Amino acid sequence: MSDSLANFEILRYVERSPKSAEFFNKAKKYLPGGVTRGTPYEPYPLFWEKGEGFNIWDIDGIKRLDFFGNNSSLPLGHCNFQVQKAINFQLQQGVSFNAPHSSHVELAKIICERIKSVELIRFTNSGTEATMNCIHASRAYTGRSHIAKVDGSYHGMYDSVAFNSVGESFFPDQKMELPNMPIALKDTVKIIPYNDSEKSLEIIKANASQLACVVVEPMLGGAGFIQADLEYLQNLRQVTQDEGIVLVFDEVCSLRAGYGGAQAYYDVYPDMSAFGKSLGGGLPIGAFGGKREIMDLYQENTLEKHVQHSGSFNGNPLSMISGVYTFNQLTPTVYKKLDFLTRKLKEGIKNVAGEFEIPVQVTGLGSLFALHFNSNIIKCNFDTDTNDQDRSKQVFFGLLNEGIWPSQNLLGAVSAPMDESEIDEYLYALRNVLSRK
Ligand SMILES: Cc1ncc(COP(=O)(O)O)c(C=O)c1O
Repeated sequence: MSDSLANFEILRYVERSPKSAEFFNKAKKYLPGGVTRGTPYEPYPLFWEKGEGFNIWDIDGIKRLDFFGNNSSLPLGHCNFQVQKAINFQLQQGVSFNAPHSSHVELAKIICERIKSVELIRFTNSGTEATMNCIHASRAYTGRSHIAKVDGSYHGMYDSVAFNSVGESFFPDQKMELPNMPIALKDTVKIIPYNDSEKSLEIIKANASQLACVVVEPMLGGAGFIQADLEYLQNLRQVTQDEGIVLVFDEVCSLRAGYGGAQAYYDVYPDMSAFGKSLGGGLPIGAFGGKREIMDLYQENTLEKHVQHSGSFNGNPLSMISGVYTFNQLTPTVYKKLDFLTRKLKEGIKNVAGEFEIPVQVTGLGSLFALHFNSNIIKCNFDTDTNDQDRSKQVFFGLLNEGIWPSQNLLGAVSAPMDESEIDEYLYALRNVLSRK
């Protein structure tokens, strides 16, 4: 395809978003890159003003269907009535106490009852802190200090996990993702290739005596909602068990894949899990939990083993209550509906692209989905290198112009207020975009 198709869409985008352009120029004066997380897409990102159910409005007043819900953290959509009512009540009661609160017990009970591998749980303010605590606990439990992480996985941006491979054929050599990190850290992290059991097991076994944990996302999130092969997770489970290594599932994103998280979907259970995003029903949160004998180290009083865990806003009642009222509404029936709608959407995307003979792969678990314009099956981060970037750009801006918020990387999430008509709208919009060949 020619780049002019993406350009046509971008011109339309610019015509319809003058206020976002104006705010972006102001923002650049105070915020590096004009934003406060990640890198904005060019020419400038939309500024959002409000959300309601599955709709969001930008500051130019244009309404769109929200097919990402703040990076998948809003499974019930925006401003869910029950969640809002509970938050409003809590606002009157006070928003932060440096003390236990009944909501801690309520949300802990919900997660411990739903997630089979979690016997005890603690809360944090973000998924980043949650994965960090899984690493801290693993080190204390095993008496070892190194970790293995999957290439292209994202667990937050901190030193222990800011590593990826140098390239497909260079495992286990790794590169640092942040400038000038202490060189000594390099030896402490081993990178394993996603969905490649043979290489991963080889690296894990070779380093087993030093490895505290193996951290894996059951669905590689930021790299493109790429689901793990069942066999891969089973192999990681077996080797970590044999070698006395803690297996950590980062379910910050994949928690919403189903009632029991991605671990129940695969029926493979880790020793520890990290959660976030949807857990707070739209407010900032994280949590980590797992086996009692590991989590007990958070109350152990021996200097050597005790793991410290603090945070001024841990368990703040607003986030906790938002999580409780969100999860109380996420019943098995709701998950069933989300699965049905997302399956319909994924099939529909393939059919629409097929009408125009455009190769597409649609990945994702449960209500999460991602588009990859590629004729090859997507099994790991390297497979996305050959995605058709021009086509992706055309579809991103095209869908925005057609009234859909598809997210910058075409990662998507179906939310509970949606029905078949919203799925049809997405497919109708995609057909319009792709027909502008
Ligand atoms: C799998 C995974 N782990 C950890 C994180 C970090 O979570 P947070 O942004 O809440 O710190 C993310 C965020 O995108 C994630 O997708």
